[in-house]
Amino acid sequence: MKILVINGPNINMLGIREPDVYGKNSYQDLKNFIWDCCQAEQVEVELYQSNHEGDIVSKIQKAYGVFDGIVINPAAYTHTSIAILDALKAVSIPAVEVHLSDVSSREPFRQISYAGLACVKTYAGLGFEGYRQAILYLKQLLNA
Ligand code: DQA
Repeated sequence: MKILVINGPNINMLGIREPDVYGKNSYQDLKNFIWDCCQAEQVEVELYQSNHEGDIVSKIQKAYGVFDGIVINPAAYTHTSIAILDALKAVSIPAVEVHLSDVSSREPFRQISYAGLACVKTYAGLGFEGYRQAILYLKQLLNA
């Protein structure tokens, strides 16, 4: 089982950006957390982060026929990107949406998720743990 974990813009700034919202741990810490989790679950994983919408769209397209599942935190593109939504729909790879913060209790513009419309499940407000939950959910789904 092969999973692609995609993180969108500014996730590479974890630990520096708004630590009261996103925590004090860095993107490297997040990568280590996901690697450890995937190793424990015997899941093959590739990690990808980009600040560019088109690059994320291309990465999703290239996942077709290669990955069994996608975990995606599209970050700010969650709330704006129909292109990422369409790419997820195009490849039809089961995808789980993750947000570090509880977007449902934040600003009104964060209440809409386009990417979420193409995802089988969303975890928000659990910090790093949301990625683990997403991986476990995909594992269960793909093994069913
Ligand atoms: C985020 C929430 C988004 O609204 C925000 O733009 C981000 C991170 C989260 O993980 O909580 O960059 O996706």
